[in-house]
Amino acid sequence: MQLAAVCTDPWVLSGTALVVLVHLVLRHFRSGGRRLPPGPRGFPILGALPLVGPTPHTGLAALARKHGPVMYLKMGTCGVVVASSPAAARQFLKVQDARFADRPAVASAVDITYGFQTIAFGMQGPRWKQMRKLSTVHLLGAQAMSEWASVRRDEAGRLLRDVAGASAAGELVSVPDVLVRAFANIIGQITLSKRLFDTQGDEANRYKEMITLVQSGSGLFNISDFVPALSRFDLQGVQAKLRKIHLRFDDMITSLLDEHSATAKQRQGRPDFIDKLKASMADNKDSNDADTISEVNVKGFVFDMFTAGTDTASIIAEWAMAEMIKNPSITARAQEEMDRVVGRGRRLEESDVASLPYLQAVCKEAMRLHPSTPLSIPHFSAEECEVDGYHIPRNTQLLVNIWAIGRDEATWEDPLEFRPERFLSGPTANVDALGNHFELIPFGAGRRICVGKLAGMVFVQYFLGMLVHAFEWRLPEGEKLDMEEQFGLTMPKAVPLRAIVTPRLAPAAYA
Ligand code: HEM
Repeated sequence: MQLAAVCTDPWVLSGTALVVLVHLVLRHFRSGGRRLPPGPRGFPILGALPLVGPTPHTGLAALARKHGPVMYLKMGTCGVVVASSPAAARQFLKVQDARFADRPAVASAVDITYGFQTIAFGMQGPRWKQMRKLSTVHLLGAQAMSEWASVRRDEAGRLLRDVAGASAAGELVSVPDVLVRAFANIIGQITLSKRLFDTQGDEANRYKEMITLVQSGSGLFNISDFVPALSRFDLQGVQAKLRKIHLRFDDMITSLLDEHSATAKQRQGRPDFIDKLKASMADNKDSNDADTISEVNVKGFVFDMFTAGTDTASIIAEWAMAEMIKNPSITARAQEEMDRVVGRGRRLEESDVASLPYLQAVCKEAMRLHPSTPLSIPHFSAEECEVDGYHIPRNTQLLVNIWAIGRDEATWEDPLEFRPERFLSGPTANVDALGNHFELIPFGAGRRICVGKLAGMVFVQYFLGMLVHAFEWRLPEGEKLDMEEQFGLTMPKAVPLRAIVTPRLAPAAYA
């Protein structure tokens, strides 16, 4: 039958009308007759999944332009609400914060998170609260951070010398590789008193590969996460892939913790974070409380630190560096500021950052345009609620499109341009990135806000600042800058940034 004939066939027409009607009636009754937020209708079983496309942050942003900043869709059989503007994010992460502070128990995260026993994927409750509290008090809060400033300084110095060495040898520097190694070494020292990698070699590369696999694998839109009935078939092989990475990661964590136990005597009087965590477990061991921290939580904690704490900051610093190579006038202005404040006789120190407003603006601009987790980590509410007059049913997942919020045209002038000056004067000058202003939320906001936000900020500002102050960065002859994004739970550059570097400070500064 010709297409035109099909379209006018009365049976086909009435059949289609009936399906649409049944769908609308079901939708109406499921919402108890209350109005759901607007959203695309989607397909049977898969819902809107096929409409989202291979890069969900851009696909969902395009759908939000059509349906609105609070959008409800069925992804498979799961209800999902997407917040795509600062006001919408505020509604969910401030007004409805307590309700939406859970995580969805998706199939793909089961193994990699030790059965949701990490901070990042743990369900809201006393154990999760306790883990956040201990990490803030002993590791990642402002006071705790000042206690390990010397570790950051030492690792920054090693990085500087390594990059200077690569420059002298005429070797290319892979920005994400050297940064992830430095951050992993810092995290290793502050959590379990161990530097992981001395040089960039096979071991460091394997580690970086593991992190990349976790982040790209867990950000995939896995059909089983949205149609749980299909999870035992693992149609895309995502669960099997993540299980394999989990086993590799668990091997590494187990041997780090074994070594840590074996060297306990050497740390007497100088406990590291894992020692403190274990002491807190010992204090509570008789409480017989299912909510106290267990050995599995300790492993989950180490996993969180190495995954959430290394790649995220390196991705933002790498994007910032790429934007600076693309815009030489921005590099020149940043270097002029650093030369004026720091001079060329020594390297930039962390304490200099407070006197470098342009550098701070460059970092914020990179966080706005290239947030490392474009859709944050999914939130979940088991209870129903009302947002902007719309009914949000219970058991709804929340995606906050951080990427779209950073490009919101109502907030940002020429949102696609990399323009750090917007943080120095004008209406967005005072927007901060630490969860107080919903226009810029690279670390999220509310009770699930990134627990390592202060460390993340320092990693980006200090290490980017030091590298841009100490070296000129340029691409190898004939190479073009590729600014493609690669989507996963995190969003690195699709093509890692590799550059030729030339020192620009007095030789003594590299010693
Ligand atoms: C520039 C660097 C970083 C960025 C952009 C970043 C971003 C984020 C985001 C968007 C979330 C999810 C927030 C939400 O669910 O609403 C998150 C959670 C988290 N981040 Fe970070 N992060 C960074 C650095 C770090 C560092 C250095 C650490 C630790 C050393 C860390 C540890 C965590 C943990 C444990 C969570 C889970 C919190 C929870 O679920 O309660 N992050 N981060």
